[in-house]
This record gives sequence, C-alpha cells and structure tokens, in this order.
Amino acid sequence: MKIEGFELDSNGLDVEALAEDLEARRREGRKLPKMVYTIPDFQNPTGVTLSLERRERLCELAAEYEFVVLEDDAYGELRYHGEDVLSIKALDESGLVVRAGTFSKTIAPGIRTGWIIAHETFTEQMRRINAGGTNAFTQGLVGYYCAEGPLEENVVELREAYSDLCDHMLACLTEYMPPEVDWSDPDGGFFVWITLPERVDAEAILPDAVEQGVTYLPGQLFYPDDRGHNCLRLSFSHVSRDETERGIEALAATIRSAASNDGTVSDRSVSSASDR
Ligand SMILES: Cc1ncc(COP(=O)(O)O)c(C=O)c1O
Repeated sequence: MKIEGFELDSNGLDVEALAEDLEARRREGRKLPKMVYTIPDFQNPTGVTLSLERRERLCELAAEYEFVVLEDDAYGELRYHGEDVLSIKALDESGLVVRAGTFSKTIAPGIRTGWIIAHETFTEQMRRINAGGTNAFTQGLVGYYCAEGPLEENVVELREAYSDLCDHMLACLTEYMPPEVDWSDPDGGFFVWITLPERVDAEAILPDAVEQGVTYLPGQLFYPDDRGHNCLRLSFSHVSRDETERGIEALAATIRSAASNDGTVSDRSVSSASDR
C-alpha cells in the first residue's frame, strides 16, 4: 500500500492539488487511489476545518474517480467558534463516503468505541470483519450513556471548558512567541499547529523543551514523508490554564534560543527571564 499526503491550508485539505494529481494520474495511465482519508473538522494535528466548497469538490472527485472518502469525524462535536459545516457524508450522493466518529473525545478518553455512517456495502463488510471481535460490554455502556445518560449535557460542558482552554492557549501564544513563529487558529478540537522558522527542527529541540517542563509532538510524525520538521502539535485539552501559560512561556524561550543558535541545539540558559 502506498500512502501519499497532500498539503493543507487554513481551509483544510488542498482539494485542488488532489484534483490535479488525479488528473495527471489518469492522463499518464498511473494508478488511481482507492481511498482518500481526511479529518474535515478541527483536523488532528493542525486544527483547521475543511470548507464547504472543498467538501463538495471532494464528493465530485470521489464520484468521478471512484475512490472512497473516509471522513474521520473524531472532533466534529467539539466546535467552539463559528458555524457547523455540513459533513462530507451529508453531501455524498455516490455512496462512496464513509463517516466515522469516536466517543473517546466526548465520553471518556480511551473508551475506543465509535460509530460509522456508510452505505450498507461498507457496513456489511465491517460487520463481517468485526464478527465477535468488538467489546460488547463497552458498547452496551456507551449505548446506555447515549440513550439515557447525560451525553448532550456533557458535550455542552466540554465545549465550554475546551473553548476556554483553546482561547487561553492562543492568547498565551500571542503574548510569548517570537514574531517568526506562526500558529493555526482552530475553531474546535484539541490542537494548535505551530510553524517555527525553517531553520529550527522541532524534534531536535524537544529534549530542551521537556527539560523546561513542556512537551509536544514534532510535526514530522504526521507526514508519511520527511516534511514538517519545523512544525509541532500542541494540545490544550489536558492542561490547566496555569500550566498552559507556563508551558507556552517555556516553549517560546526554547524556540528563541534554538532560533538564535543553529536551529537544533539550544543553549541551556533559555529559562532565564532576561533571555526574552
Ligand atoms: C482524528 C482521530 N481519529 C480517531 C481517533 C481515535 O479515537 P479512538 O480512541 O476511538 O481510537 C483519534 C484519537 O486520538 C483522532 O485524533
């Protein structure tokens, strides 16, 4: 299996780049993809959301080139700003879109039970593959929680709490980060994607950041190739406001130090306030 990644911008996956690639493949008689996987709402790791126009275009392409779209809707319910955008599945007329979601973000982390909305061609296959292999006990609990339990109230509370943490992280980034650092502006989900100056390697400076008490996932982990070396993913879902502020301040100092060296090796005085 060959996996190829496409760039995204503040409107999500670059669907026109995908369209050009598909066209070139067909023209040159190269293999066409079987499936496009995408996280349209508050994407993990960048936090960006796919625009309605791009969702529509993706559906057109799926129908034209006959590939499956796997819409991973893990974060869709956790919107803090702006209006909901129709799911890709809601726009799908070809039956080629499979929408999947999880209760891990709304009921309990690690519950690892989710749902699928798809044409029965897919659900039937999944049922066969799954036969006897799913956790009926957890599914029973989740089913009860959805039907009789406080799922909806819980989601409202989560939105409020995460929205506050998200806004706070963005405010701390504005306050502490050096001017050459950029970041995404998520409307929901758990993540902010940070872009460092080209010369700074996020993986190389991670040990220094950890020493300062902050950790993150380096950008390279999210690409099937070697892109993303100067990017990193921050998560605001599991930290207090106070920890966020201290963490962002420390991370900014680590980045500043690396940017003023060769971009990879920090000098150990980064935590001193006079360095900022
Ligand atoms: C985009 C995305 N899809 C799916 C999942 C998986 O959820 P689960 O805990 O149900 O395996 C996650 C969890 O981190 C996620 O970020």
